[in-house]
Amino acid sequence: MADLLITHIKGLVQVREATPAPVSGAAMNELPILQDAFVAIEDGRISSFGPMHTLPSSLTANESIMATGRFVFPSFVDSHTHLVYAASREEEFVMKLKGATYADIAAKGGGILNSAAKLRAMSEEELFQRSLPRAWEIIATGTGAVEIKSGYGLTVADEMKMLRVARRIGQETPLTVKTTFLGAHAVPKEHNKEKYIQLVIEEMIPAVATEKLADYIDVFCEQGFFTVEETIRIVEAGKKYGMRPRIHANQLHRSGGVQAGVKTGAISVDHLENVGDEEIQLLKNSGTMPTALPGAAFFLNLSMPPARQMIAEGLPLAIASDYNPGSSPSGNMPLMISLACIRMKMTPEEAMNAATMNTAYALDLLQTHGSITKGKQANLFITKPIPSVAYVPYAYGASLVDTAILNGKVIRES
Ligand code: NIG
Ligand code: FE
Repeated sequence: MADLLITHIKGLVQVREATPAPVSGAAMNELPILQDAFVAIEDGRISSFGPMHTLPSSLTANESIMATGRFVFPSFVDSHTHLVYAASREEEFVMKLKGATYADIAAKGGGILNSAAKLRAMSEEELFQRSLPRAWEIIATGTGAVEIKSGYGLTVADEMKMLRVARRIGQETPLTVKTTFLGAHAVPKEHNKEKYIQLVIEEMIPAVATEKLADYIDVFCEQGFFTVEETIRIVEAGKKYGMRPRIHANQLHRSGGVQAGVKTGAISVDHLENVGDEEIQLLKNSGTMPTALPGAAFFLNLSMPPARQMIAEGLPLAIASDYNPGSSPSGNMPLMISLACIRMKMTPEEAMNAATMNTAYALDLLQTHGSITKGKQANLFITKPIPSVAYVPYAYGASLVDTAILNGKVIRES
């Protein structure tokens, strides 16, 4: 007997028999959809699915939902966020509207250092209470698994505080959470850069590893932040403690971040607003997932990554939100998909693959997340009645998620 049975689904999206690899190149435009379908859930996993005419009459369930006119999608996997933070920064947003650049604001002690000052002054409990609603907010817009970075602490104690809060979000909400240590996000005012890098390598990384607080290590490889050489030094130190690299690369300049990521075996390189042929060639067959963050590029008015060229060259591409108070104050994955379609000319099918299968790969979650596959974790959502899959990016800003189901359980509270 199933725990939950969803029947008469207009379109069951992203059905895969098996998902051994992420989707690349032309295959990104293939999004398998079963029409007039059912899906059954047992013990938190997808136990079976198929067309309605194959639904066995013997298949009974504790709870049934009729999804007539509605689509069912696998939950989004958001592989890049900074959703643990103390406070919003709309005052900087207004400065930017009046002409200040991201770099101007950072140079004046705003930006990341502004967030760090606020976070250091806040208790771990309050930081958790401030961050928790953001976790529920992304659940409501269809996310089921999320990566959360540190990087607004910039001291041993405050980086650990952030990562503990991130881990606690994974324990106290139904989200699957992966964590990333981003001590090298900016150099705090009280240190010179070399001293700070030593602190990151010699104290922060070992301390974070002792409490098993981070799955990955990240560096903001960018002019005015950390160079390629520094990035490599820092992530190599993290690798010794079992943290695989993922890198903030090529956001504001052609920083060499992609080269640093591929060289160190990063699982992903993220941002990529400034890449050219050299980076695209390097990424081929590298195992490193190129990840676009269209919300951040939109919010900062940057050019978008060359998605069409990347896909034409056979690369995979992932899309994540970069949810953070400075450059992307939204974790709404349907909106990211709209931006990917509108601004990067991705098809709705490509954007869906980018935000499910490919982000699952980028978090080492492809075995359990990112598609409707027998045995995978039952993370999915039922839409409101909608005419087609393309309607999701088309109706930008609309909230089309009706019912989220995580670990097989219908989410009823927040
Ligand atoms: O991914 N680029 C670096 N870090 C963040 C922004 C952080 C901030 O401004 O608070 C990003 O865009
Ligand atoms: Fe980021």
